[in-house]
Amino acid sequence: MANTYAVIMAAGHGTRMQSELPKVLHRVAGRPLLYFPILAALEAGADEVVVVVNPKTAEAIESTLRREMPGVSLSFAVQNVPQGTGDAAKCGLKNLELSPADRVLILSGDTPLLRAENLKPLLEEAAQTSLALLSFIAKEPKGYGRIMRDTEGFVTGIVEEKDLQNDAERSIQEANAGVYAGNGQKLIEALGQISNQNAQGEYYLTDIVSLISKKAPVLSLVTKESDLIGVNHRVHLRQVEAVINQRIIEQHLLAGVTIRGDVVIEESVVIASDVEIRAGVELRGRTSIARGAFIDKGCVLSDSIIDAGATLLPYSVVSQSKIGPRAQLGPFSHCRPESQIGEGAKVGNFVETKKAVLGKGAKASHLAYLGDVEVGEGANLGAGTIICNYDGYRKQRTVIGAGAFIGSDSQLIAPVHIGDGAYVATGTTVTEDVPAEALAISRGRQTNKLKYAQKLKQKLQQEAQQLK
Ligand code: UD1
Ligand code: MG
Repeated sequence: MANTYAVIMAAGHGTRMQSELPKVLHRVAGRPLLYFPILAALEAGADEVVVVVNPKTAEAIESTLRREMPGVSLSFAVQNVPQGTGDAAKCGLKNLELSPADRVLILSGDTPLLRAENLKPLLEEAAQTSLALLSFIAKEPKGYGRIMRDTEGFVTGIVEEKDLQNDAERSIQEANAGVYAGNGQKLIEALGQISNQNAQGEYYLTDIVSLISKKAPVLSLVTKESDLIGVNHRVHLRQVEAVINQRIIEQHLLAGVTIRGDVVIEESVVIASDVEIRAGVELRGRTSIARGAFIDKGCVLSDSIIDAGATLLPYSVVSQSKIGPRAQLGPFSHCRPESQIGEGAKVGNFVETKKAVLGKGAKASHLAYLGDVEVGEGANLGAGTIICNYDGYRKQRTVIGAGAFIGSDSQLIAPVHIGDGAYVATGTTVTEDVPAEALAISRGRQTNKLKYAQKLKQKLQQEAQQLK
C-alpha cells in the first residue's frame, strides 16, 4: 500500500524575526509555529514527517518537537548550508525509503494557518497526477513566486519574483503558496535536474513544476490567502495568532462553551460543555475545565484542572493546580503550583496557596498564606492566617486536622500539627503541636485601666511639647 510522507522545510535563518530563538519555535496559541503544519500533515494522513533543519537550530527544534508531540513519527534531516528550497526538499526526501507509489507533501515550517482540510484535496489531486500545489490570488503578489499557465490554463511553471521578466509577468496575481503534494520518486527525479542558475543563485524547489509539467499535468488548487499566511516577522506572528485564537474559540463555542468578550485560549486547553468564560480570561498549557465551571473576568489559568461546577471569581490566578468540584476561588486568589483545593472548598480574596491540599469544604475566605500545608475537611482558617513554612533555609510542612478552627491573625510556624477539631484562638502564634479538640491560645492578657485614656493623652502631649 502506498504511504504518505511529509517534508517540512524549516532550515531557513528567519533573520527578520530579530530573535535568538529559531523562527519556527516562536509560539502562537501556546505552540511553536512548526507544530501547526506538522499537525495538518498528520491529520491529512501523513504516516511520517521529516523536518529539515540547519546545524544551528537542529537540537532546539528536535527537543521541542519531541516534547510537544510525543509519539509522533518524526525524523530530522540536517541541511548543512541553506542553498534554497530545492536543496532543502532534496535533503528531506533523502530521509525516506520511498516505494514507487508513495506520495509526499512538501510544506514550509512557517505557515501555521494551513490545515488538513487544505491538504486532503491536494493529496487527492496528487494521486491523479505527478504533482499538485496550492496557489492563491494575492492581494499584493510582490515577493511571491507566480504561477504561469498556458493558453488552455494548464500550469507550466513558477517564476520567482526576482526572476520575473516583464510587467505582464509581474501583474500575475496567482501566487505560489509553497505547499506541494506529489509522487515521491517523481519529485526526487525532478529535483535531480534543477540548477541554481537564477537571480538568487539558489536551488528553487519551484523549478520542478516546469520540469514535471512537460510530462504530466501539474494541478494547482486555488486556496484562500488567509489560510496560507507565512510568518516572516512579528507583525505576521501577531496576525496568525489572532486567526488561530479565533479558530480555537469558535471550536469551543460550537462545542457548547459560552465565551463572552475577548479571551485567549491556547491550543492544548480542553473545555467541557456548559462552561462559561468571561472577558479577559487566559487559559494556558494543559489546562482542562470540567462541565459547568464558571471562570469569571480576568482569570489566568495555566496547566491546571478545574473540576465540574467550580467557580473562579474575577482575577484569580491558578498554576499547576487542581480545583475540586464546586470549589470557589477569588476574587483575587492565587493558587501556585501543586495546590489541590477540595470539593466545595473556598479560597477567598487575597489568599495565596502553594503546595496546599485543602480537604472537602475547607475554607480560607480572606487574606491568608497557605504554603506547604494539608488542611482537613471542613477546617476554617480565619482572615490573616499565615503558615510560616520557610525559615530561610528549609520549607516545612504543616498539617491542620478536619474541622479545626484557626482564629484570625494566627501564625502557624512549621512544622506543626493541629489536631482534628482543635481551636486556635485569634492572634495565636502556634509553635507546638495542638492536640485534637484542644484550645491553643498564646497572647498577652488584656488589662483595662479605667479612665486612664485622658491621663495618657495629656502625658504624651506634654512630652511632645518639651521636644519642640
Ligand atoms: C517560497 C517559494 C515561492 C512562494 C513562497 C510562498 C521557492 C524558490 N519559492 O519563497 O514561490 O511564493 O515560498 O511563501 O521555493 N528553507 C530551507 N532551506 C533553504 C531555504 C529555505 O529549509 O535553503 C525553508 C525556510 O525555512 C522556509 C521555507 O523553506 O520555511 C521557504 O523558504 P523561503 O526562503 O521563505 O522562500 P520564499 O522566498 O518565501
Ligand atoms: Mg517565505
